[in-house]
Amino acid sequence: MTRLAGKSALITGAARGIGRAFAETYVREGARVAIADIDLAKARATAEELGAAAIAVHMDVSQQQSIDRAVSETIAALGGIDILVNNAAIFTAAPIVEIERTDFDRVFNINVAGTLFTLQAVARHMIASGKGGKIINMASQAGRRGEPLVAVYCASKAAIISLTQSAGLNLITHGINVNAISPGVVDGEHWDGVDAFFAKYENKAPGQKKREVGEAVPFGRMGTAADLCGMAVFLASTDADYVVGQTYNVDGGQWLS
Ligand SMILES: NC(=O)c1ccc[n+]([C@@H]2O[C@H](COP(=O)([O-])OP(=O)(O)OC[C@H]3O[C@@H](n4cnc5c(N)ncnc54)[C@H](O)[C@@H]3O)[C@@H](O)[C@H]2O)c1
Repeated sequence: MTRLAGKSALITGAARGIGRAFAETYVREGARVAIADIDLAKARATAEELGAAAIAVHMDVSQQQSIDRAVSETIAALGGIDILVNNAAIFTAAPIVEIERTDFDRVFNINVAGTLFTLQAVARHMIASGKGGKIINMASQAGRRGEPLVAVYCASKAAIISLTQSAGLNLITHGINVNAISPGVVDGEHWDGVDAFFAKYENKAPGQKKREVGEAVPFGRMGTAADLCGMAVFLASTDADYVVGQTYNVDGGQWLS
């Protein structure tokens, strides 16, 4: 299938994990993709593995200059941006009384401001092109409800759901669809880090939290990045033209809404 033939996509945080899986799928669907990441060496390696349809771009979504440079670089290299996936994010966890201001600022700068201002830079380009486009934000089941040890990350993902609604309503008048994907627990390097946090704060053995969350998923296991790719293609395609400001749970049945 080539449902994204002729399209150009910018995916933030695509050097590894879910973003990388999306990039691979978009290339398979006929798109050209900019692998944008703070880890340029890894982004280059990923782009090389994906072949001629992929390029690597250095991008730190917490820095406005870096956002502007990465967006310009992508437009110059790919001839425009039809699809943006705001995927880059970081995780943090701590009991409420131990949350540090610097950690809050770091997480909100990357997860929330990074999403908003990358969306803004790309939306300006999409409006100027007159062609509209598709913007997909990565939310999380963590944004659907709070968790005792994950206040800051949960709040950042709740903000993504809200921003998706506001931007969706504002930008549809320009033919730009803004929607979000809300994964549950997705195995990979990200969750290795989450597991380590819980090992520390809940006194669990390494790997124990992962096993527990996998067993708690109604589907019967943790998700994989591949489980999310169908939704990422749908929201980037013309099939989603009438879908505005929505956040879709792709989580094996963990959150029902
Ligand atoms: N893995 C899960 O269980 C899960 C669940 C729900 C939501 N999500 C969300 O899905 C998205 C991808 O998750 P993942 O599991 O692939 O994470 P990951 O940690 O494996 O990958 C994140 C990527 O973002 C990059 N990155 C970090 N800071 C950056 C910055 N300032 N600028 C640019 N790039 C930066 C990293 O280098 C990395 O390549 C995130 O938004 C995450 O919150 C993940």
